[in-house]
Amino acid sequence: MKDKIDNIKKAALVEIAAAESAEGLEEVRVKYLGRKSELTEVLKGLKDMSVEEKKEIGQISNVVKNEIESALATKEMEMKAKKFAELDTKEKVDVTYPGEKPAAGHTHPLTKTRYEVEDIFSSMGFLVADGREVEDEFHNFDALNIPRNHPARDMWDTFWFTDGNLLRTHTSPMQVRFMEENKPPFRIIVPGRTFRFENADATHESNFHQVEGLMVDESGKLTVANFKSVMAEFMKGLFGKELEIRLRPSYFPFVEPGFEIDVACPYCGGKGCRICKQTGWIEILGAGMVNQKVFTSVGFEEGKYEGFAFGVGLERIAMIKTGVNDLRLFYGNDLRFLEQF
Ligand code: PHE
Repeated sequence: MKDKIDNIKKAALVEIAAAESAEGLEEVRVKYLGRKSELTEVLKGLKDMSVEEKKEIGQISNVVKNEIESALATKEMEMKAKKFAELDTKEKVDVTYPGEKPAAGHTHPLTKTRYEVEDIFSSMGFLVADGREVEDEFHNFDALNIPRNHPARDMWDTFWFTDGNLLRTHTSPMQVRFMEENKPPFRIIVPGRTFRFENADATHESNFHQVEGLMVDESGKLTVANFKSVMAEFMKGLFGKELEIRLRPSYFPFVEPGFEIDVACPYCGGKGCRICKQTGWIEILGAGMVNQKVFTSVGFEEGKYEGFAFGVGLERIAMIKTGVNDLRLFYGNDLRFLEQF
């Protein structure tokens, strides 16, 4: 009987060692410790044995049972440890590794330029006003001293709606709208989208942006000299240094006198370069002293007020500042272009 139990134990330990899976190990458990196992049979037979035999065989059987159980437990732990070790190398996660950054957009170069212009004029006390893109003929033309059949209308090729309204060809109609609502003194800028019925080329788009400026006070308080100093401050803010400014006579029906403003090229110091087309000067905007006819068209008494107005192309400023020589790039939405700014 003792030999039999010893053989059971040896066989069980061999099979436990050989087991390769959790299921295999469970089969071994059932085989050697289950209700129908040889060891259970031995224990069941105890009742027919003598008292000494019962004592001896009972004890040996229990020891063997315990040994088999602990061998099973040890094997199970080994298997689990092996499995976790495998998982550890196969599915390793380094929680300290930096994650992937989601791609974030940024401000468009034209928007950036607009913000810069707004900052410069805000610091000089100008209010930033907003106008409408669909205008009527009165505000876009007539009130600005450009009546129907006036030859100057040819300066602005216009998108007309069938109802007689139009897409504003410049931001100047906001001069009129603002003065219909506000009495001088005031100083405003009006950034916004403008439209012209034109073919696109490197320096023209049918859809572009302007910033209008208007400063008005009682007669005698604002002169061309004031205007020039505001422009000097504008250029200094844009290009980061003092730059010479030049006024050339020009014509716009809503100003008298009218000027074209040039600024000394900030890149070559006047020697001539690609940006200033070898002239040393950059044409930057149209401007002038407000024509009294504009004042009277909004109901102001003639001669009571004086002021200056200017209109500047946002794309033009952005091109000068960035060296980009084709304005269509700003509207191409090509990330290879946009990501450079
Ligand atoms: N509105 C003019 C244009 O679009 C620019 C301008 C504005 C000129 C204000 C003089 C005064 O060309």
